[in-house]
Amino acid sequence: MSSETQNQEWRFYGRRSGRKLNTSRKALLDEILPQLSLSTDSLTKDATLAPASLFENKSEKTVLEIGFGNGEHLAEMMRRSPETNFIGAEPFINGMTAFLKEIIDDELPLNNIRVHMDDAIPLVKSLSDNSIDEIYVLNPDPWHKTRHHQRRIINQDNLDIFARILKPKGKLIMTTDVVNLIEWMVTEASLHPAFEWTAKGADDWRVAREDWIPTRYETKGAKGADHMNYLFFEKK
Ligand SMILES: C[S@@+](CC[C@H](N)C(=O)[O-])C[C@H]1O[C@@H](n2cnc3c(N)ncnc32)[C@H](O)[C@@H]1O
Repeated sequence: MSSETQNQEWRFYGRRSGRKLNTSRKALLDEILPQLSLSTDSLTKDATLAPASLFENKSEKTVLEIGFGNGEHLAEMMRRSPETNFIGAEPFINGMTAFLKEIIDDELPLNNIRVHMDDAIPLVKSLSDNSIDEIYVLNPDPWHKTRHHQRRIINQDNLDIFARILKPKGKLIMTTDVVNLIEWMVTEASLHPAFEWTAKGADDWRVAREDWIPTRYETKGAKGADHMNYLFFEKK
């Protein structure tokens, strides 16, 4: 196996951990994560996983966040909208434990959140048609090298899946401060026949909306980062 293939497999299927977890974080993984995790068995190959089947409450609205990092955006959406159901995917253990710590410390209800500590793509492939109201992909990995661009999570194959699982008029919300990734994401999503960019002028994508929830990455800023961009696409 080439090192590139190895890295790719590790990247997608490894439960990546940066630093050693302390006892309380480990307890979150052992006790809270199993209560909230989607079981591997629930992932289907035939796109029949109905989000409603994952929750006891019969909310009309389900929001998915892909690559939630430390989960501050997801936790704040949960605080603001307790009647909505949320699904979050993040393969990085430290990010998952940071998110679990925040929702436990803040005593947020756990009945409207399900998480997947792995690659989001098998999960989105499992979800049933027209079942998701909003998909957030905030500051995805830029994969700077040209030969790695096809690994970017926003690509035509994944947009096909997002288009299938979003309800009509469902939203695909993406952010980045990486110049060539902005161009890439705007181009890929605009070229896709199912999506329409809702921006009417530059302020719609250059300026955060008043109620925007910044992520950790956004607040910290990355080395060499440019201006943050907010891309709101809608399923036609
Ligand atoms: C640059 S970070 C941004 C994190 C967060 N959204 C933020 O804005 O602070 C990108 C995140 O996407 C996650 N990620 C990368 N590929 C993924 C995939 N296939 N499925 C789910 N998450 C993924 C990474 O683990 C990482 O946490």
